[in-house]
Amino acid sequence: MELELKQLRDRCLTDLNDVEELKTLDNVRIKYLGKKGELTIALKGMGKLSSEERPIIGKLANEIREEIENNISAQKQLLEHKEIEAQIREESIDVSLPGKKHLAGNLHPLTTTVNELKEIFLGMGFSIAEGPEIEWAKYNFDYLNVPQDHSARDLQDTFYYQDDIVLRTQTSPVQVRVMQEQKPPLRIISPGRVYRCDEIDATHSPVFHQMEGLVIDKGITMSDLKGTLDLFAKKLFGEQTKTKFRPHQFYFTEPSAEMDVTCFKCGGVGCKVCSNTGWIEILGCGMVHPNVLRLCGIDPDEYSGFAFGMGLDRITLTKYGITDLRLLFENDLRFLAQFK
Ligand code: DAH
Repeated sequence: MELELKQLRDRCLTDLNDVEELKTLDNVRIKYLGKKGELTIALKGMGKLSSEERPIIGKLANEIREEIENNISAQKQLLEHKEIEAQIREESIDVSLPGKKHLAGNLHPLTTTVNELKEIFLGMGFSIAEGPEIEWAKYNFDYLNVPQDHSARDLQDTFYYQDDIVLRTQTSPVQVRVMQEQKPPLRIISPGRVYRCDEIDATHSPVFHQMEGLVIDKGITMSDLKGTLDLFAKKLFGEQTKTKFRPHQFYFTEPSAEMDVTCFKCGGVGCKVCSNTGWIEILGCGMVHPNVLRLCGIDPDEYSGFAFGMGLDRITLTKYGITDLRLLFENDLRFLAQFK
């Protein structure tokens, strides 16, 4: 029994020595001194001993228990000390290290353009309308008075999801949604993403951005269109900017026009930005076609209105003098970080 107890003590001391973390120290205590611990069990066997042996072994057992307990508390102190030291080491600050840089982001130039446009039109009393990018073909074409056989409907130009669902090719279907859902007077803009089957190059992308505008009220005329869009151009490109309206053709407006602005770079003299013409084409516009009003549930004898649509990517490229459309979509930080 004596030998057995001494072996138990040696095993326990080795175990204690191996403990490296405070959390596992208690496991050793339980293993030897716990209710079902090895020493406790060994002592239960003392009943079998002779009356001479019992006090001797009892004394030894007590000594061993004390020794183990002392060792446990010594090991505990040691480990506590080690942990505190490790913590201090970890938390100390090396003042000679370079500081951590917090990178401040900036808005994408396209976002800046959209924000500027919104600001201008909100200031003129417009509100913002939204529509889905996956759109009913009838909203993208039919309600906008686009003929059944028009080439824009071709598979080469439009991404069809199924016969009657497309990726919208323009923001104009939002006009339809607004006219069908709300009562005039209406004054909305709608910026967003549009899609066309184009190969990617410096001036084309299958996904790009437009902003639509629509005004419907009693007695709206072409002068309202010209006044509004001229003011918009002056706010975006500067007071000195002049505008010019060239006749054009859109199915959803009659009459239709394209608006040019004097080049903000050369003021109209001619330079690289405006390809030496002095003018930059900015948007398409016109008086909303009576057919469109009718198809959207608005009586053309009571109401009239104008609409416009502009390419946001083109405006952004022109404004910043960027020559390749792809830069807007590649998310290269070396490019984007220049717009801080
Ligand atoms: N949706 C036309 C396009 O993608 C742009 C446009 C022109 C919109 C005239 C209009 C408009 O609302 O009146 O080319």
